[in-house]
Amino acid sequence: MAVESQGAYANLALADALSRADLIPRDAAFATVLVDGTARGQGTWDAILTAASGHKPTDWQPAVRVVLRMACQQILATRVPLRAAVDTSVTLARHEIGERVTGLVNAVSRKIGAHDLAGWAAELATGDELSDLALRTCHPRWIAAELAGRLGLEEAGRALEADNLAPVPTLVVRPGLAELSELLDAGATACLYSPYGATRPGNPAEVPAIADGRAGVQDEGSQLVALALARTAQAASASGPWLDLCAGPGGKAALLAGLAATENRLLVAGEVHPHRARMVAEALAPIPGDHQVVAADGRRPPWAPGSFAAVMADVPCSGLGSLRRRPESRWRRTASDVPRLQALQKQLLAAAVDSAQPHGGVIGYVTCSPVAAETLEVVSWALDELDVDLLDAPAALPEVTGAATGPQRRCIQLWPHRHGTDAMFCALLRRR
Ligand SMILES: C[S@@+](CC[C@H](N)C(=O)[O-])C[C@H]1O[C@@H](n2cnc3c(N)ncnc32)[C@H](O)[C@@H]1O
Repeated sequence: MAVESQGAYANLALADALSRADLIPRDAAFATVLVDGTARGQGTWDAILTAASGHKPTDWQPAVRVVLRMACQQILATRVPLRAAVDTSVTLARHEIGERVTGLVNAVSRKIGAHDLAGWAAELATGDELSDLALRTCHPRWIAAELAGRLGLEEAGRALEADNLAPVPTLVVRPGLAELSELLDAGATACLYSPYGATRPGNPAEVPAIADGRAGVQDEGSQLVALALARTAQAASASGPWLDLCAGPGGKAALLAGLAATENRLLVAGEVHPHRARMVAEALAPIPGDHQVVAADGRRPPWAPGSFAAVMADVPCSGLGSLRRRPESRWRRTASDVPRLQALQKQLLAAAVDSAQPHGGVIGYVTCSPVAAETLEVVSWALDELDVDLLDAPAALPEVTGAATGPQRRCIQLWPHRHGTDAMFCALLRRR
């Protein structure tokens, strides 16, 4: 209900509820599957509920549609037996809403059980391949269209399905503060590509290095794009500080600060929102070496132009690359968000280029999105409008295959279904 009616993030609302509920681990895991799947499947569940009831779920009061979406999740996406799902849905409706809705909930949840998910997808198929793929994989059509535009319809199906698998938490050691072996000793498995990362099921706070701030939680894709920029800047061997222009909450800044410290470089971390700038300061606090956090609009920065040997521009984006972690977000974003984001992305990239040293400053343009308008289109615009050359980003990550994309295949696009990471995009530019 918090997600449906108050705009809460499912993962945060659930963590809060679980911390107050005294559940055994198995029940907590089941609650997680219920909440994630109910939020993630929302549009598909509503299409099925419309067909099963003859009414639009948006016409019902919010608690009714939430109970019935939860029924869909149980009946169509878990092994909960139909009768148990119907009984618990009716009991929940009686308890939370009132006797008057139990007949509706009973009738509709029984009808949901008329087909499995594939059966409903066949029943509701329109013949429009993208709409049918979107329904089958629980995404809005525009997101299916974006991925099909990048990957083709068949591979887009695999990418969309990968969005529905919650990832195992990925941990990262802070260079200079902890060794990967500490994470492995705590039961983690080394990441495939990042030398700093390891995955470990369960609560990251149980790992001593995480608890004392010598390691953090960060998707492997985020680690890799930070590493690509750092390696390229180090190979260019220009002296001078590094900048993270859009640093909040500080994941990439922490990795960059650790790498900068190994060369006695200053890292400056900018962030427009003061509360997020404070999060960056907390993330950087344990890191040795020289770093500063500046609460500033990256488009009107307080530092002198041309100050930095390397600039990370990890710009605000649609976040469609991290749908695995945010079950409800695919239904909140719309295609109409993208032009506004693209305008901001271009402004921030222009400011990042301006902040880089002339004659060789390296800029990393990064999004957690595979949407063409936020990635390849912004890079094409930069190559036309800004005084930059496109560097070979995949060459900075030779251990990663299947990521090269864009002009002369010089950009990186990671994918959950290919690399097991978020769908991070990275272009490396050099200021002329
Ligand atoms: C994709 S997030 C960055 C994630 C971060 N690099 C990390 O790895 O933890 C983008 C950040 O840019 C910030 N931001 C948005 N507009 C900005 C602006 N005009 N100047 C600087 N930062 C901005 C947002 O508040 C957000 O924290």
